[in-house]
Amino acid sequence: MRRIGVLTSGGDAPGMNAAIRAIVRKGIYEGCEVWGIKRGFAGLIEGDIVPLELGSVADTIHRGGTILLTARSQEFMTEEGRREAFASLHRAGIEGLIGIGGEGTFRGLLTFHRETGFPVIGVPATIDNDIGGTDYAIGFDTAVNNVVDAINKIRDTATSHERTFVVEVMGRNTGFIALTAGLAGGAESILLPEFPFDIEAVCQRLMRGIRRGKRHSIIVVAEGVGSAPAIAQEIKQRTGLETKAIILGHIQRGGTPTVFDRVLASIMGARAVELLLAGEKRAAVGLVGGEVKHCDLEEALRTTKKIDEAAYKLAEILAI
Ligand code: F6P
Repeated sequence: MRRIGVLTSGGDAPGMNAAIRAIVRKGIYEGCEVWGIKRGFAGLIEGDIVPLELGSVADTIHRGGTILLTARSQEFMTEEGRREAFASLHRAGIEGLIGIGGEGTFRGLLTFHRETGFPVIGVPATIDNDIGGTDYAIGFDTAVNNVVDAINKIRDTATSHERTFVVEVMGRNTGFIALTAGLAGGAESILLPEFPFDIEAVCQRLMRGIRRGKRHSIIVVAEGVGSAPAIAQEIKQRTGLETKAIILGHIQRGGTPTVFDRVLASIMGARAVELLLAGEKRAAVGLVGGEVKHCDLEEALRTTKKIDEAAYKLAEILAI
């Protein structure tokens, strides 16, 4: 393998740059050329591909977002689009492709491999952490730290005004961000799509807390459960408490990646290069039980990661 292509696709995740850097530098160290594909699969179809040198990734390890830009390509979902992507890779002389992203990226890589036989490796990066084959995806740790930072700030004003805040966090259809940030942020209640909840029970819990002297309450809601303003309104109506809603939105995805994400991205990026050089054709890199491993892309996509129910129950116990 002489020339490797790398792209980032789907929602950006902090640490993607550290992964690109590792792929470029490890690839060059191993005697390969590494070419960067802009805007994920969209840029691949257009042939927007540039050679990356050691210096191309200088001063990027601490930056959020992705220097390669990212997109969600509808065209790559068509056979025609994938044929064009294959032609671009062929024209650029690329012999193996590393895709950094979440479920959509992995699905795209697998379909592409099935149709063309082209060697592909997936590096998991999504703040949602909802991808199988790994305990942690790049970007999740930074995102939950961003949420906890925000909760800390909200606490100051919530205590001063003795208010209740409903904080909506990202996570598409999963509650990994909500649970981890809710537990770390000491939330009174955490509402997740994985577990049904009773709004009346949430309100009674709030009132119990206030009766025992709580000055404020924080409720963390995963976006897949419903909108924070609607839930805040419902709580206000049922309890009479002054309840405000805040949607953290894309702030969660930005900022400098944590040490954990930088190290994870560096190790996973380097491993992706090793896998390509070892002749792997469709692997997904992962961190499992503290060890960097890999599995078939199909297996990573088949595995549904479970929310930690014990942590969910513990968060409730600790917030009484
Ligand atoms: O998958 C990452 C994610 O941030 C989800 O948590 C969220 O639902 C979605 O992307 C938002 O997508 P967009 O950036 O296109 O608004």
